[in-house]
Parts: sequence; structure tokens; C-alpha cells
Amino acid sequence: MTPAGASLLDRLAGIEAEGLAAIGEARDPDGLESARVEYLGRNGRLACVMSSIGKVEPAARRGVGQRANAVKTALREALERQDRQLAATARAPSGGVDLTLPPRGRWVGGVHPVTRVIDEICDIFAELGFTRVLGPEVESTWYNFTALNIPLDHPAADMMDTFYLDEDTVLRTHTSPVQARVMEAFAPPVRVVVPGLAYRRDSFDPSHAPAFEQIEGLAVDEGVDFVEFRAAIQHFVRHFFGAGTKSRFRPSFYPFTEPSAEVDVSCAVCQGSGCPTCKRTGWITIMGSGMVDPAVFEAVGYDPERYTGYAFGMGPARIAMVRHGIPDMRLLYEGEMSFLGQFV
Ligand code: DAH
Repeated sequence: MTPAGASLLDRLAGIEAEGLAAIGEARDPDGLESARVEYLGRNGRLACVMSSIGKVEPAARRGVGQRANAVKTALREALERQDRQLAATARAPSGGVDLTLPPRGRWVGGVHPVTRVIDEICDIFAELGFTRVLGPEVESTWYNFTALNIPLDHPAADMMDTFYLDEDTVLRTHTSPVQARVMEAFAPPVRVVVPGLAYRRDSFDPSHAPAFEQIEGLAVDEGVDFVEFRAAIQHFVRHFFGAGTKSRFRPSFYPFTEPSAEVDVSCAVCQGSGCPTCKRTGWITIMGSGMVDPAVFEAVGYDPERYTGYAFGMGPARIAMVRHGIPDMRLLYEGEMSFLGQFV
């Protein structure tokens, strides 16, 4: 190949490399247009080489011409690509992607604080042989009231003033009806914990919600006595609230237990000396409980002469409030991520 042919090939290689670089570096349509004019324009660098191809000796002319056309194609394609790229960037909000911004945090989900309390409570009772079971939220008045020794016309039963679906069907006002369902379905011994929603015509205020979680507990066998009952509750209190937590049983009344007791735990905030969390009493009530009333055994067909048992019911939302010092129950049910995110 003559020196003229070889030097044109060198120049084409330079034009290709520099032209591709200039096109790639163009940051706006004007910059791109200047690169086009410089390399592909009528008087541009490529045109200049092409006009001298005629002077190359015939044997090399064809090779140089093909190479020149290949460079032209490559530059044109690069121009089109860069043009599309610039247009896309211009359409993006705020002029493009700002790679200097810190990355967004990954969205990490978590278990709701009330659900966590429920799971922990059920796990602690599982160690004592309690099985986790569920019952229906739409319940007959027989299970919700009658089987539990609550006569339908009992004036003390405020919770009967509730959501009726028809004359004998309610949204259950507590999880206690599952006691009766379990005893009807299984012969003793039974040990169950029953988490679930209950419904009452309560206003939505700092300490009430019209739909709220409960956990029911029931243990029935031959020879279950108050000592076992108290030991089970104490085991639960120590494991859930901490080894130093004291508990006490306070006499109470429920139609389905006899005797009945409220269980209080020493206030974790003030260690029992009195503070706003415990309303200055040093104690916080965590559950209603008692020995199962023989009338309930009779309703479900258990022999009250042979079997005894204990039952309890607690509100995990209230327990979550005590645990985390949450002043208003509504915070737990409003689904506000700025609040719930703290517990992830
Ligand atoms: N069902 C009661 C309520 O909703 C709570 C309760 C009290 C459950 C004593 C029990 C119990 O099993 O023994 O207020």
C-alpha cells in the first residue's frame, strides 16, 4: 500500500476514536450538533478524508473507501444513540438521576407490637402444655353468653349491648366462647390459649377500641387446683414481665368463674412506688381469671364432680401499652408508620 493509502487509514482511525469520544461527551443537543458538524459535516474531518480517496492508488482505494464508510456508519449510530440518551435525560424529573444522593433505605417490615405480645404470651404458655387454637368472631349468643353462665337478661352484663347480626348472632364480645367450643369438641384434659379479636360497642378512646385483641386461656383436668392455677400465672408473669415482677390475685367476679380474680403485676415503670402508668397504685391489672364455674362444665357436658380447671382472659394491646409506655391505645390501631416503625 502506498504511503498515501496508509496515512489515510491512520487518519480514519483517529477520526473514529476521537469522534466517538466527542459524541459520547456531548451533554446537550448543541454540543452534539457541534460534534456532528466537526466529524460528519460537509466540510468535516471525514469528508476531508473522503475527498482525498481519489488520490490513492487504485489498488488500495477500495480498502480505504470501505473503511471510511464503516467509520461514517459508526459515528452516525453513536450520534443517534447519544441523541436518544439526551432526550431521555431531559424527560426525567429534575433533569436526571443524581448519583450523589444517598440511597433510599430499604423498606423493612416488622411484626406489629400487639401481635408480638400475642406470640410471646402463647409461646410461654406453650411451654406449659397449652395449644394455640382459634374460634369464630361471628358467634351465637349461646356460646358468647349462655354457655358461659351469663343469662341473656342479666343486668350486669354490659357487654351484651353489642353488635348483633341477627337475634341470636353477635360479633363475639370476648374470646371466652372458645372455651365452650373447645370443651364441646374435646374430652379433658384440655389446655388451650386462644388469641383473637373481640368486639364491643365501646368508643375509640385512649384506653378502648371497638375491635380489640384478647387472649383466652383454659386448663381443665382431674385435680387442677388453685395452686396449679397460681403457679401457671406466676410462671407466665415472670417470663413475660421479668424475674423481679411481683403478681397478686385480687378477688373479682365473672359469671363463668368461681372464685374469680383479677391478676395485677407490679408496675415496671416505678417498681411499685406509684406513677401515672399505674395510676399511683404500684400495680397494673393484666387479666381476669378464676376457677371454671361448674355451671360452664354442665353446659358443655363435662362432669363437674370429676373435672376442675382455671381460665383467664387478657388484652394484649393493653399489655403492649404497659410494656412500651404507650399513652393512647389508638396509636396501636391507626396504622401510622411514623409510630409503628419504631417497633421494627
Ligand atoms: N371474658 C372476660 C372479659 O372479656 C375476661 C375473662 C375473665 C376471661 C375471667 C376469663 C376469665 O377466661 O376467667 O372481660
